[in-house]
Amino acid sequence: MSLKFRAAESPEDIASIIFSSLKEEESGVLRQKGVVVWLTGLSGSGKTTVAGLLNKRLAENHFLSVVLDGDELRKTLNKDLGFSEADRAENIRRAAELAKLLARKNIIVICSFITPLQKHRRLAAAITEDRFFEVFLDCPLSVCEQRDVKGLYRKARNNEIPDFTGIGSAFEPGVEARLILHTDVESATESMEKLYAEILPGIQPAAGE
Ligand code: ADX
Repeated sequence: MSLKFRAAESPEDIASIIFSSLKEEESGVLRQKGVVVWLTGLSGSGKTTVAGLLNKRLAENHFLSVVLDGDELRKTLNKDLGFSEADRAENIRRAAELAKLLARKNIIVICSFITPLQKHRRLAAAITEDRFFEVFLDCPLSVCEQRDVKGLYRKARNNEIPDFTGIGSAFEPGVEARLILHTDVESATESMEKLYAEILPGIQPAAGE
């Protein structure tokens, strides 16, 4: 961007020139439509892995995306929240509000949260409206527990985590999801490729945009 100003121009004029030029730049850079890809599934179902792979795949194809991950947000924005039903709802509400702001700027937002109940998913859908794209990572509890990447299932079975999702706390299958990925039988890359193919038409700008 190169801007030339005349001495007589007021600060307001300069500001408006900068803003109009920035808008031009922005629209040039972000030739994409913002969407909220919401990954729901048990702990260990592959949400973080698929989110990371999708983020990389999008970047390779010159799409700008960000990942909002439950574990990460719970260290910062949501560090005051626990795992009661109400706290989980608040966790989802804040994440969805943030996702909405970013998606409105045409950023592709990949949200990775257990989102255990239908009402939690409906809350995220209500906030992000037509940008919401729910994906259920359908992986049986037995498989997630077998993997136990973080050792949390073992702790939950030992009553060290009383309300762990799938053990002491409910998980309702994502029956309203737009896409179901069977992450127990397909590789993370296969799942990501299916997801990428599904969202591609929705993130590309219409011809002439
Ligand atoms: S959600 O239920 O509110 O959507 P979120 O995705 O943010 O959950 O966080 C889940 C992560 O928190 C898990 O991957 C796990 O590492 C950690 N965690 C700690 N305690 C629990 C618990 N009681 N239930 C589920 N996950 C837990």
